[in-house]
Amino acid sequence: MAGERPVVAPGVVVLLLCCLAAPMVRGGGGGGGVQHNITSFLNGHPEYKLYNKYLTETRVCDEINARAAVTCLVLNDGAMATLVADAGESSLAGIKAALRLHSLLDYWDTKKLRSLTTTNLTDTFFQAAGDAMGTVKIAKLDSGDFGFASANKGAKFDATLVKAVKQTPYDFAVLEISAPIEFDGLFDVPDAANLTRLLEKAGCKRFAALVAGNPGVLKAYQAAMATGLTLFAPNDDAFVAKAGTPDVGKMEKDDLVRLLMYHAVPAYEPKPSLKLVKAGARPLRTLASTAAGEYNVTVVARGDDVSLDTGVRKSRVAATVLDEVPLCVLTVDSLLMPVELFADAPMPAPAPAPAMAPADAPLGSSSSSPADAPSEVADHKAKHVKSTAAALRSIGAVAVALCSVVFASLL
Ligand SMILES: *[C@@H]1O[C@H](CO)[C@@H](O)[C@H](O)[C@H]1NC(C)=O
Ligand SMILES: *[C@@H]1O[C@H](CO)[C@@H](O)[C@H](O)[C@H]1NC(C)=O
Ligand SMILES: *[C@@H]1O[C@H](CO)[C@@H](O)[C@H](O)[C@H]1NC(C)=O
Ligand SMILES: *[C@@H]1O[C@H](CO)[C@@H](O)[C@H](O)[C@H]1NC(C)=O
Repeated sequence: MAGERPVVAPGVVVLLLCCLAAPMVRGGGGGGGVQHNITSFLNGHPEYKLYNKYLTETRVCDEINARAAVTCLVLNDGAMATLVADAGESSLAGIKAALRLHSLLDYWDTKKLRSLTTTNLTDTFFQAAGDAMGTVKIAKLDSGDFGFASANKGAKFDATLVKAVKQTPYDFAVLEISAPIEFDGLFDVPDAANLTRLLEKAGCKRFAALVAGNPGVLKAYQAAMATGLTLFAPNDDAFVAKAGTPDVGKMEKDDLVRLLMYHAVPAYEPKPSLKLVKAGARPLRTLASTAAGEYNVTVVARGDDVSLDTGVRKSRVAATVLDEVPLCVLTVDSLLMPVELFADAPMPAPAPAPAMAPADAPLGSSSSSPADAPSEVADHKAKHVKSTAAALRSIGAVAVALCSVVFASLL
């Protein structure tokens, strides 16, 4: 009878976390939960029509609406047209980067601006995307104006405050500024138009060459890109010095094509959604999958770590190269070896893997990033650690996700 007591039910954790998170999401203003919708707010201000249009097209509006304590630096149609021209008319990705730079991760109103004594640095959504360049500096200028600029070296305060359009303490502010905030390289964002070049730039030259050498595969990727595609691109290190990695140059053409198709999933699956794995594992169809589910790959998430289990071995999902709905390009630390092709492949280690490098690895020949150690050994060890902490962490991840869903639906 005793001993049957369940550990904390996931639902309870969800509720708890939601309660904890609630004060952060609900601003302190005017009683009742403050909720903002930048799109509908700007709809009432036709002078920001172009800005609003691009907020919607780039979906940056969703990021703004999902967060409390946010300040939008908006541009009237004239200034926004300048930004669009600077980005190059066709570059929605560049405009998105700029709009994220104009969305400050803090509440700033005129009262707070007036209280400035020194130049202040504030984070933006641009930085939240994982780039250190996205800081904006704010200062009271000698002219008496409030200046806004990129915090990058040498940036001048070309933009000044025109007026406060909306101030809801401490949740949501909309400030009009006179000119776009830009810096060298702001619009230099990965471009999905040329997939092989994108892969080369991301340190996946070997994979890019394989894709370029198999036009049918590239075509299949491009066809899937229209509706949803996530590419798991092995980085260049994945092809060398990993026990058991096949020599792709010696593979039969059909098998190689299958292998390349196996590295693509016909759905938009950015890392945050891969992390939301129920019960710790989820099968995904790849472009190589058969109706019977052969050539599926299994996502395994543990806290912030996401791996793909092929049935032969696991590969860690490393970096996000591009995350532009409906296309996502992620790098993986090792080649994905489907069990259907490599069931007989020598396993990396039946016993704990030896610390020495494999005999056939070109020792000391790799100049690029020797620090990038294989995650294999760690993965195999970690597999045996059935820690409660890990379980709790994944419950936490699910709870946080549920919270965001709940809050998104409130907005
Ligand atoms: C915000 O407002 C726009 C326009 O009124 C609407 O289309 C959109 O669904 C709203 N967003 C949310 C999250 O409610
Ligand atoms: C300036 O930025 C810091 C963080 O870097 C913050 O703690 C401080 O409150 C800011 N000052 C003002 C006046 O907002
Ligand atoms: C894509 O970029 C590669 C170089 O990385 C180039 O060889 C190829 O011609 C480009 N393809 C197109 C369609 O521009
Ligand atoms: C393959 O993946 C799909 C999509 O997640 C799933 O519905 C199916 O059950 C999987 N099949 C196998 C055999 O794992």
